[in-house]
Amino acid sequence: MGYRTVLIEENQVMQERLSSVIRNTPGFELSARYRNAGDALGQMQAFKPELILLDIDLDRNSTLLPDLKKAYPHTVIIGMSRRWDAEAQSRLLQSGAGGFMVKPFSGEELQETLKNLQNTSASRNSEVIAFFSPKGKSGKTTLIANLGAALAQQTGEPVAIIDGDLQFGDMGVFFNLTPQSTIVEAIRDISFLSPVTLKSYFVPVNEELSVLCGAAKPDLAETVTMEGITSLIEMARGIFRYVLVDLSSGFSDVACTACELADKTLVMAMVNGGYEVEHMKRALEIFKAWDDCDRRVKPVFTRVNPCTEEARKEFSQALGFPVFQVLPNEYLAVSSAADNGRLLLTQAPENPFSQAVEQMAGIIKNW
Ligand SMILES: Nc1ncnc2c1ncn2[C@@H]1O[C@H](COP(=O)(O)OP(=O)(O)OP(=O)(O)O)[C@@H](O)[C@H]1O
Ligand SMILES: [Mg+2]
Repeated sequence: MGYRTVLIEENQVMQERLSSVIRNTPGFELSARYRNAGDALGQMQAFKPELILLDIDLDRNSTLLPDLKKAYPHTVIIGMSRRWDAEAQSRLLQSGAGGFMVKPFSGEELQETLKNLQNTSASRNSEVIAFFSPKGKSGKTTLIANLGAALAQQTGEPVAIIDGDLQFGDMGVFFNLTPQSTIVEAIRDISFLSPVTLKSYFVPVNEELSVLCGAAKPDLAETVTMEGITSLIEMARGIFRYVLVDLSSGFSDVACTACELADKTLVMAMVNGGYEVEHMKRALEIFKAWDDCDRRVKPVFTRVNPCTEEARKEFSQALGFPVFQVLPNEYLAVSSAADNGRLLLTQAPENPFSQAVEQMAGIIKNW
């Protein structure tokens, strides 16, 4: 006995094709099929459906989705369309659907979609965090790698790291990864992908943490457009509970787009000679154009010595803006861990940098 599945699909050929996929997928059984949601609404009660696959290319079906949800509140509804579309996905989820699939799909995709749904309520309350820095070498990648691992470990929920540092992305180095595909291929293919197929472009680090590596060569960076990064981030929201985005330093189009889309932007600077407060101030001036800058923008200073609550307060005072976190100067520890393709967090959990990252993950978990 598998999921009692009802298929609602207008197109006869597609209906046949999907029916056979459902019948041949272990864990699923096809209870009934209809051409549209109107017919299904009144008739499918007897089948006690556990899963409804709903063709949303038909406008009437999308309109009836809230009624379906009301009549079958405990049934999982998955919308299906010939193309993935960020807006359609968001409308769908708001109307009570559990997920979105691009049709036709394979049995594996169907299983994976249901598995994602069970593992997480990711699609409805995902948290996208962009990491921006006014200048290069600000400790972003070091922090993101460790923070991603800490969040995954503390929450047990799916966490993604997207290496959007298009020219010099080196996130893969921190995890010792040799990716088959990178952000360049993911964005190239995005209009043909669905949340489930996008996941295969990420490299799994462990059960919870996945990394989408950066461009293999700097000249490929140009293929990553603002539209592309937008679709990528929106689609990743459907799969992961936390999405951490590493960005090239400075205000590029792609970096600004990612920050706009993100729920929070962490602005990072590394203490090194004293200009960093000034750089941070100038960056904040630009972010202050956002109405909700106070809520969404979080300055972080790294390589702080001594790294104390006092230091955090002093930076906040100098900036005239609350500093979210200060991270200690641990050059030898962080760089030797990275050189060995290891994370400081796992290699030396007692190290003050690891401790500060754990603390930060604890705060983010409760946002
Ligand atoms: N807390 C820290 N204390 C001391 N050194 C650090 C700290 N964090 C990172 N570093 C070192 O600073 C250098 C830059 O770090 P990282 O690559 O993380 O920065 P980035 O902002 O990602 O740089 P890029 O602009 O190249 O992307 C590395 O050599 C790293 O080991
Ligand atoms: Mg970096």
